[in-house]
Amino acid sequence: MVHKVRYLSSEDVRSLMPPMKEVVELVEETLRHHGAGATQMPAKIDLGPAPDSFLHAMPAFVQPTGAVGMKWVAGYPANADKGLPYIHGTLLLNDAETGKPTGILDASVITGVRTGACTAVTAKHLADPGSEVMTIIGCGVQGRTNIEALLAVFPDTERMLAYDIDPERQAAFADEIMQTFDVASVIPPEPQEACEGAHVIVTSLPIVKDPKPVIEPDWLQTGTLCVPLDFDASFTPAAFERADLFVTDDLEQFERYRSKGYFQGIPQPTGELGKIVNGSGPARPDGTPIVISANLGLGVLDVALGARILALAEQKGVGTELPL
Ligand SMILES: NC(=O)c1ccc[n+]([C@@H]2O[C@H](COP(=O)([O-])OP(=O)(O)OC[C@H]3O[C@@H](n4cnc5c(N)ncnc54)[C@H](O)[C@@H]3O)[C@@H](O)[C@H]2O)c1
Repeated sequence: MVHKVRYLSSEDVRSLMPPMKEVVELVEETLRHHGAGATQMPAKIDLGPAPDSFLHAMPAFVQPTGAVGMKWVAGYPANADKGLPYIHGTLLLNDAETGKPTGILDASVITGVRTGACTAVTAKHLADPGSEVMTIIGCGVQGRTNIEALLAVFPDTERMLAYDIDPERQAAFADEIMQTFDVASVIPPEPQEACEGAHVIVTSLPIVKDPKPVIEPDWLQTGTLCVPLDFDASFTPAAFERADLFVTDDLEQFERYRSKGYFQGIPQPTGELGKIVNGSGPARPDGTPIVISANLGLGVLDVALGARILALAEQKGVGTELPL
């Protein structure tokens, strides 16, 4: 018997993507499972074929839902100069009972959306609930999905501050966000002005082996949540040190990256996002703490969102069935 596997292109995935609020709920539920130990997710296996590049194998299983598979994702900072995306990804899904491959999905869109949703869940649990000013440093793919997700969770956001080293990208990004979400968008000329006065700061610069971070502790007002998606590329060790609470989305993965040379001189995180979400981790300290959550990226979120999209594709007959 010829077994068939469903292939979903980036356009298929985009057309099936649930609304951001639903993705945020799915990500929160998956983080809860992860925090409860109901997942399998070894730390990423990584290769680096070009300077500052990575190729990561991210196998993951979410036991309560049966979502299982592996994302194979590439990040190449030099791609910007070639007009190519920073991130390329492919997600292979399997049937949890038999191991049969069930889907091959483009994972670039999934990576962007699940990372934004994870930031929004982080902010739901660790930001000031009255947060109204959101800052994005790095106005690329992640900047776009992260602000969209934050606005889904903080609909009363008053303004977004966006900084990018490329002024054209910065201005185009601010215009797009203003028009799409009807939120005031400001483009400060320097990153310091983008940080001062922010309630939530998301940074998404290229991850590099020899980082030159610029965000100093005195740029952060009390009560701010910082979500570096770019490891140690943006926040100085002193800024990490200043945090009243420093956590990550996965301690094992954090340790692995530290052993690879990232996060040097940076304190040890004292909690994990999944445990914070399910109430067994450290809570946001009282008062107006500075909190940093280094979200490194979780394979469990890729397989959870991929499985949801694959189920929708099967219902709607979207995609291409390939014989194996
Ligand atoms: N933690 C996670 O889960 C996760 C997931 C996906 C991507 N990432 C990381 O997020 C980062 C961004 O990915 P992307 O797909 O948005 O890339 P992108 O190329 O679309 O966006 C990066 C942006 O950063 C800007 N930039 C570069 N250097 C800068 C600087 N010094 N100051 C200000 N802006 C600068 C670029 O002009 C660009 O607009 C990468 O490091 C990637 O590895 C993290």
